[in-house]
Amino acid sequence: MLKSHSCGELNESHVGTRVTLAGWVNRRRDHGGLIFIDLRDRQGIAQVVFNPEKSRPCHEVASKLRNEYVVRASGEVARRPPGTENPKLATGYVEVIADDAQILNPSKTPPFYINDEVEVEEGLRLKYRYLDLRRPRMKENLILRHRVVKFIRDFLDARGFIEVETPILIKSTPEGARDYLVPSRLSPGKFYALPQSPQQLKQLLMVAGVEKYYQIARCFRDEDTRADRQPEFTQLDLEMSFVDEEDILNLLEELFTGLVEAVKPETGINKPFPRLTFAQAMERYGTDKPDLRFGLEIGDLSHTVAQSGFTIFSSAISQGGRVKGICAPGCGGYTKGQLDELNQLAKSLGAAGLVTMSLGTSAGNLDGLTMAMIKSVAAKFLTLDQVREMAQRLGAKAGDLMLIVAGKEEIVSPVLAELRQEMGRRLKLAPADQLAFAFITDFPLFAWNEDLGHWEVMHHPFTAPRDEDVPLLDTAPGRVRSRHYDMVCNGYEIAGGSIRIHTSRLQRKVFRLLGYSDEEVKERFGHLLEAFDYGAPPHGGVAPGIDRIVMILSGEETIREVIPFPKNQNAVDVLFDAPSPVTEEQLAELHLCLEKETD
Ligand code: AMO
Repeated sequence: MLKSHSCGELNESHVGTRVTLAGWVNRRRDHGGLIFIDLRDRQGIAQVVFNPEKSRPCHEVASKLRNEYVVRASGEVARRPPGTENPKLATGYVEVIADDAQILNPSKTPPFYINDEVEVEEGLRLKYRYLDLRRPRMKENLILRHRVVKFIRDFLDARGFIEVETPILIKSTPEGARDYLVPSRLSPGKFYALPQSPQQLKQLLMVAGVEKYYQIARCFRDEDTRADRQPEFTQLDLEMSFVDEEDILNLLEELFTGLVEAVKPETGINKPFPRLTFAQAMERYGTDKPDLRFGLEIGDLSHTVAQSGFTIFSSAISQGGRVKGICAPGCGGYTKGQLDELNQLAKSLGAAGLVTMSLGTSAGNLDGLTMAMIKSVAAKFLTLDQVREMAQRLGAKAGDLMLIVAGKEEIVSPVLAELRQEMGRRLKLAPADQLAFAFITDFPLFAWNEDLGHWEVMHHPFTAPRDEDVPLLDTAPGRVRSRHYDMVCNGYEIAGGSIRIHTSRLQRKVFRLLGYSDEEVKERFGHLLEAFDYGAPPHGGVAPGIDRIVMILSGEETIREVIPFPKNQNAVDVLFDAPSPVTEEQLAELHLCLEKETD
């Protein structure tokens, strides 16, 4: 190699050794005579000293150096003079006294500082991603991602899983998003679809007798990007034959506790992972991906306030809705401005409004609560006993604030879920060094689509119904529970999976319920149904999202920070400028012509 050692590895054991280093100029300090260069490579930073008395040509090279120049320097490692050590650097007790140096490549002045953690606008960071990735935080994220994937591979290898690659150019494998399509040159007018996940392929591998499959798999979904969503992302996709739910959930628990211990041992983790049914999660947290690092559970106040003279409450209930709330502990003294902010948030999420009820400004138990302490538009319509009962249902005490939403269940729960998150953030209730995993089970198999007037699957159409609910497919599809499970962590859904349907008879029945004609089923899924008729074993699996896991482990707030070359919010790669126009010839080869833009 062009270097004998990496910058970051030098320490006192190297004193007296001759070394050659190569890397980037992280910082240059010119002290009149002496020039000090902090030379950086992936492993760290070493101080290289250029003394004109030691080597004049070498000092001349150093005087030309600027940040991000690529340099090679040789010399002897020396102990730094007493008082000049830098205990913050791993290499801070030594320096290299250069006697030879070459500029391997100069650099333009970078558009942002590499050696500082200053905030830089994301568009600029993405355009110069190769520079952004030089920054310590991004480098750490890349390394963490590597370690996560390596741990997963080793863990599954040790348990008899084999990694199998599956095609990217394939047919639609639906997961509820739009497909990315690729036109075919050889089959005019026909298209491949990029897989939204390898779902059908992994099921075919079970029919093939693979028994324990996994893949670090790229998935493609044409949907709006968000902080935790990218058009292309990576799953740990896995599937096993002859298993039930417990086998998969136990494997996940073992995998994730082992992973956290290996890559972030200082992080707190709750084991065993708690389990909530979908109904419990919705009832207590208003969402199927609750952040369980803190309480603030939603309480149902409908029963207490149904007969009150406060029409916002009573009319919501008489129209079939609910009145629910959460407690914001210690927030009884919130100002009008703070309450208005919460009200605005509730409205922006679709609530007609937010009823706030302060239980006084100083902490105390409910026995000491008096009517005079209660501040709320609803107060004069309620008795003290009613307020006490409401407080009990929300776990509130004197000095707390109750946040109450009335309306249709579909509005009330998600609004309170968001308010709960907001209060968790404001009150710093969710420790950053804590991971709260949980499994969510017992999802309904179907949801009714009002607009289209037919049943839709809650997840994908290959999910098995619970055995005892199969008869309900004919009578009450809405009551059929699925064998789907999710794994959540700190408010994110990080994995979804299920035990699958493995007979063509049941699979056809589900397709029929979803409104597919026999023709459509044959055209879209004929290959899978046929495979099921050749001895498909019972099977099930799961797919944790790698990007989300690494995001949570690194403490980042978007998955873009843990994807080396992500798309921006408009699904554009600003470094490559993709997507981009193609030539007329390319279009012609693909048998495509573009519609003329109309004004
Ligand atoms: P699902 O669609 O729930 O299941 O996806 C599984 C996990 O993949 C991650 N994920 C995403 N990450 C980043 N960007 C996205 N756009 C995105 N979409 C999903 C999430 C999610 O929990 N084939 C099934 C799995 C199975 O049944 O085995 C599937 O893909 O972490």
